[in-house]
Amino acid sequence: MTDDLLQIKQKALDELKDLNKLDDIYNLKVKYLGKKGSLTFVLRNLGKMLPDKRREVGMLCNKVKVELAAAIESAADKVKLAEKNRKLLEEKVDTSLPGRRPALGRLHPVNKVNEEIKDIFLRLGFVIQEGPEIETDYYNFEALNIPKDHPARDMQDTFYISKDHVLRTHTSPVQVLTFEKQSPPIKIIAPGRVSRCDSDVTHSPMFHQVEGFLVDTDVTFGDLKGILIAFIHQMFGEKIAVRFRPSYFPFTEPSAEVDMQCVICMGKGCRVCKKSGWLEILGCGMINPAVFEHVKYDTEKYTGFAFGMGVERIAMLKYQINDIRLFYDNDIRFLNQF
Ligand code: PHE
Repeated sequence: MTDDLLQIKQKALDELKDLNKLDDIYNLKVKYLGKKGSLTFVLRNLGKMLPDKRREVGMLCNKVKVELAAAIESAADKVKLAEKNRKLLEEKVDTSLPGRRPALGRLHPVNKVNEEIKDIFLRLGFVIQEGPEIETDYYNFEALNIPKDHPARDMQDTFYISKDHVLRTHTSPVQVLTFEKQSPPIKIIAPGRVSRCDSDVTHSPMFHQVEGFLVDTDVTFGDLKGILIAFIHQMFGEKIAVRFRPSYFPFTEPSAEVDMQCVICMGKGCRVCKKSGWLEILGCGMINPAVFEHVKYDTEKYTGFAFGMGVERIAMLKYQINDIRLFYDNDIRFLNQF
């Protein structure tokens, strides 16, 4: 029996010598020391031996077991170390390579300009109010004094989603929604999406507007001019000339369109301003008392002004972009420039 044990040990050690893979070493461990291994088999049968023999064989068996386990462990350590050294040599890091810059996200140019517009008006004391993108005929048209036969109601311009509901064609309905809930003084800007049935290089079926309105006692056209000139100067620079040109909107009276000096040619005349030297950037006016009557404001006591501008248009002028569709293509080469 003791010879058997020594033989087993020698055989295991001989086999171990030739192994240089961790898996093979572990398999050998199982083969000799595992539950069904040769040594375990001997130990199991100790019970059948005479007490004296049992003691002798048992001790030797344990000794062989410990020795084998140690030999296997050190063989495994050697293989592990060799493997580690091989990896270290192979996977050398070249610290002279340039680093990889993580791609940084940034604001879309339309959002950026939107934020800038909001910031300027927040500094002027306006507060932000948003309204729904789906409007009833009443808020989008009727309450804004746009009569049933007005061309703006034409199916060509307005996306009707039912007989009485439209995708709002402008942010002006937020005026009426606000007036219904609050009394003057009111000083609000209302940014948001609007939709019109129109699409070419300067028109998109969905675009963004910022509406502004102020209602209080003694509000004059002079206040409107002051606010808008301050806005344009902050947005495009102090040197830009601004002019107010008479215009017409059903919900303002008098109404004006605001032009600023062409930022491309500084007023000399170019392709962008169609040789006029001026760019139209927003519509405005004194709020028509007819609108106040819908919301039961005292038209003897209160006056107000309103204005509305297209965010894409301002972004196009600010960054000299000549095709509005670039904003919606999501081409990273375009967006990365801002
Ligand atoms: N709602 C108008 C438009 O979309 C702009 C505007 C707003 C004009 C407020 C006057 C006053 O064209």
